[in-house]
Amino acid sequence: MTSSAPSSLFEQLHRCRHAYYCEPEPLVSDEAYDELVTQAHDWLQAHPEAAPQSPLTWVSAEPLQAFTTRAHRIPMLSLTNVYSLEELREWDADLKKLLGTSEVEYVCELKIDGLAISVQYEQGVLVRGVTRGDGNEGDEVTPNVKTIEGLPHHLPEPHTVEVRGEVYLARDAFQRLNQRREAQGEAAFKNPRNAAAGSLRMLDSSEVRRRRLSLFLYNQVEGPMAPTHYGCLQQLEQWGLPTNPEARAVSSIEEVVAFCEHWEQQHEALSYEIDGVVVKVNALAMQEQAGFTAKSPRWARAFKFTAEQAQSVLRAVEIGVGRTGALTPVALLDPVSLNGTIVARATLHNYDQVARLGLHLGDSVTLEKGGEIIPKVVAVDAAQRWAQAVPIQPPRTCPVCDTPTTQEAGEVDWRCPNFRCPSQQQERVLHYVSRKAMDIET
Ligand code: IVH
Repeated sequence: MTSSAPSSLFEQLHRCRHAYYCEPEPLVSDEAYDELVTQAHDWLQAHPEAAPQSPLTWVSAEPLQAFTTRAHRIPMLSLTNVYSLEELREWDADLKKLLGTSEVEYVCELKIDGLAISVQYEQGVLVRGVTRGDGNEGDEVTPNVKTIEGLPHHLPEPHTVEVRGEVYLARDAFQRLNQRREAQGEAAFKNPRNAAAGSLRMLDSSEVRRRRLSLFLYNQVEGPMAPTHYGCLQQLEQWGLPTNPEARAVSSIEEVVAFCEHWEQQHEALSYEIDGVVVKVNALAMQEQAGFTAKSPRWARAFKFTAEQAQSVLRAVEIGVGRTGALTPVALLDPVSLNGTIVARATLHNYDQVARLGLHLGDSVTLEKGGEIIPKVVAVDAAQRWAQAVPIQPPRTCPVCDTPTTQEAGEVDWRCPNFRCPSQQQERVLHYVSRKAMDIET
């Protein structure tokens, strides 16, 4: 900054900014802070010669015009989910076989319900924040990441580091945001994850700052590393980076199970939302030995808490014709919110399952999102059924080519027996090029 800079303005801004990021209470209101930022910004605009040296050049009152896409040097993978403690024990047994050892240490972490971000420091300076995107490339949202409370813009040492974590909105910040939106006649966000995702992708970072995004970092992929994952987490903490205080290193799968059981009971008491527990092999050498599948590491699992349920009404049944001619009924439902997404379709698996449920058109049904992607109908409320309701029956003819359907003795599936059925042909091609078969990408 040059000697002609209005030092009292910058000093004031510096103190407010420090209080905002490092103290429990801000020094001034958001409005007053914005006013200071605007004044500093105006001064820097009028004195561009001072900007490159100014520690305040991050101050931006100008909304961004667009985001730049950035490739991730190391892809941002997702995790394999498990839904029961038994599956966790099976994973532990498989891992021990794979690694040829009877002792594996794990780190148990909370699975924060937000969105993944990569944060990069060069020579100790925060230079980049990039969203996960499709895992291979994401949006550069650096000005927004810099608004995150508790994320230092400088490390105590000039390390070049890439760390990854979860951006989230704490429950109280989410409530305040929704109150403000409702007061302004805007639609409320459905859940904190959507609100955090929407906020991170806003072009106006002063509005993002007002929303008070938070961050927990849980993975280091570049920079000086400790020999264990837990050691890396401790190192991040020593550098002043935000890590989750509940992470624990444990030496047996039964301790992992106890951690999962504890948090499944207690998670509502946290000031932020979690949707499970992430379990990681502690020793980085063992992680390397276990390696990755195409989508996720073999050395980690996400234990998801019990599936949420929702009620809806069955309006129609759509029939899918697979590559072998198997007919799969799909329920078309009144849209309903389940685990934070709007659901209007659910699999019914096959007509045996439809008969077991005793499904009729117009039935009130209970949906569950067990396997994450495709929800399923798990129960029917027959008491609410209309007397003339029509039961769901297997179709007599294929819905695509009209060939009479068949069911072989001892088989569950009803099928279209026409090998030339257009739907079967299309599904065969899709199967041929799929990852499990020829793995043709384009
Ligand atoms: S580790 C290669 N740890 O869950 C492993 N992920 O489906 C990288 N998440 O995309 C992820 N809390 O967005 C990890 N403590 C935690 C996490 C966590 C939340 C999210 C993350 C990831 C998704 C996995």
